[in-house]
Amino acid sequence: MNNNSIEFIKVEKSFVRDDGSRQVILDKVNFSIPAGKTTVIAGESGTGKSVTLKLILGLMRADGGQILVAGNDITQIRGRKLKEYRMRFGVLFQGAALFDSMTVYENVALPLRERTKKTDSEIKNQVLASLEQLELLGHEHKYPAQLSGGMKKRAGLARALQLEPEIMLFDEPTTGLDPVMTHEIYQLFAQTQKEVGFTSIIVSHDIPKVFNLADQVIVLNKGKMDVFPSPEAIQWSQKPHIKAFVKTTMGEIYQSHLVE
Ligand SMILES: Nc1ncnc2c1ncn2[C@@H]1O[C@H](COP(=O)(O)OP(=O)(O)O)[C@@H](O)[C@H]1O
Ligand SMILES: [Mg+2]
Repeated sequence: MNNNSIEFIKVEKSFVRDDGSRQVILDKVNFSIPAGKTTVIAGESGTGKSVTLKLILGLMRADGGQILVAGNDITQIRGRKLKEYRMRFGVLFQGAALFDSMTVYENVALPLRERTKKTDSEIKNQVLASLEQLELLGHEHKYPAQLSGGMKKRAGLARALQLEPEIMLFDEPTTGLDPVMTHEIYQLFAQTQKEVGFTSIIVSHDIPKVFNLADQVIVLNKGKMDVFPSPEAIQWSQKPHIKAFVKTTMGEIYQSHLVE
């Protein structure tokens, strides 16, 4: 069973600007990310979504508070323990970050070659099975430059899944994709999440309109987090900043069961 819930308790993070003033990114925020489900963290550009992911990964240190992952405070761990901790994550950032000089096959096989003792034939079986699952079979010898945007994201997802992560982090994974491709990629995340069962966190500057994608949506604004149980629930919020965000990113009233 997946017990990889994440809990922020009074987490504080700020930066000092060039002029010496303090920029508060997280103002003693509290929220929980349930295990084995999908949480979308949305907010305008520059609000601190990527910083939040870096705090979860231990790539950045909080100024105060606790971050519990599966019940353990990870803000205190260092060194080898931190490296081991990061092994539990699969990460898919904006550009998919494939290596241009490697084929799709080599890119996807890389974590298995570097981090496991699997034989070449075991690696081949596993990689080809993943490529088939993500509809990339037949493209394994292509280089990233020969792929469409959606195929690159799928190859990035395939690579991120190789070490069977317990938690997947997606940072603006659909940037640069058209609405149809965006929809397809989010459907694929939802489907893969259900099959594999990882805890999923998707960061986005808007609220994805995809049926059944998000079990919870968190909106980050001026250092505070507002938590909603579904994309629909956001629309009934009376808070002015949420209303404004909904208006600019979701358009007219939206109900996920009406969107295919
Ligand atoms: N290492 C850093 N040093 C100083 N300021 C930073 C650093 N990382 C991020 N910031 C600032 O924190 C704010 C939030 O950044 P980020 O989390 O990347 O926003 P986004 O929500 O767009 O992902 C931005 O204003 C950014 O300039
Ligand atoms: Mg960002």
